[in-house]
Amino acid sequence: MKILGISGSLRTASVNAALLRAAATLTPYGVTLVVYDGLGNLPHFNPELDKEPRPLAVADFRSQLSNSAGVIISSPEYAHGIPGVLKNALDWLVASGELYEKPVALFNASPRTSYAQASLAETLTVMAARLIPEASINVSPPLGVGDDKLSVTSTTNLSTRIECALASFVRAIDLTYAEAMREPNWKPTVTSLGDEKTSATIT
Ligand SMILES: Cc1cc2nc3c(=O)[nH]c(=O)nc-3n(C[C@H](O)[C@H](O)[C@H](O)COP(=O)(O)O)c2cc1C
Repeated sequence: MKILGISGSLRTASVNAALLRAAATLTPYGVTLVVYDGLGNLPHFNPELDKEPRPLAVADFRSQLSNSAGVIISSPEYAHGIPGVLKNALDWLVASGELYEKPVALFNASPRTSYAQASLAETLTVMAARLIPEASINVSPPLGVGDDKLSVTSTTNLSTRIECALASFVRAIDLTYAEAMREPNWKPTVTSLGDEKTSATIT
């Protein structure tokens, strides 16, 4: 099973990216968490560009999402909102629907940032993503300057919380796809759980 991690920060030393990179080393057996690194390459969203031939970065982003069973987003707050680059990325998915019914967990490296988390949850809800609260984490005390993947994984309490969140996320993903398979219109067309022979996604 593949999970895509998206950091809302473009900073090289981003604590949100560090949190996701740490999570990538703590996944349960058979689960891969890939941290998406193309956020800064997406063009500014313009519905007029959303036609063939699509910008390569957009096609790649959508393809990575379609091939992922779930998404974990970890984002900073800028001026009480979500960073423009993250909102831009989400805008590219509104019409194409890669997040429709997709299980999404929200990680939060700085829990003071309540406005951005609320705004992100609202945007994802209106896009019909399936938010999984039991797989979401608020890191407390917040991560700060200098925190990297190593400092996250070497904090026992935090690495245990990440492992528990990932286990809950995988359970929620399994349930989501089990429910989807019971739908009369379910089509096993697109692979999404990572194993091409056995997997399917909601289309
Ligand atoms: C331009 C700018 C605006 C910010 N606005 C807020 C804010 O409104 N609320 C907040 O809690 N933190 C705010 N911050 C702090 C960041 O959210 C915080 O440093 C975060 O951990 C950075 O994440 P990163 O390390 O992943 O880039 C702001 C930072 C910057 C650079």
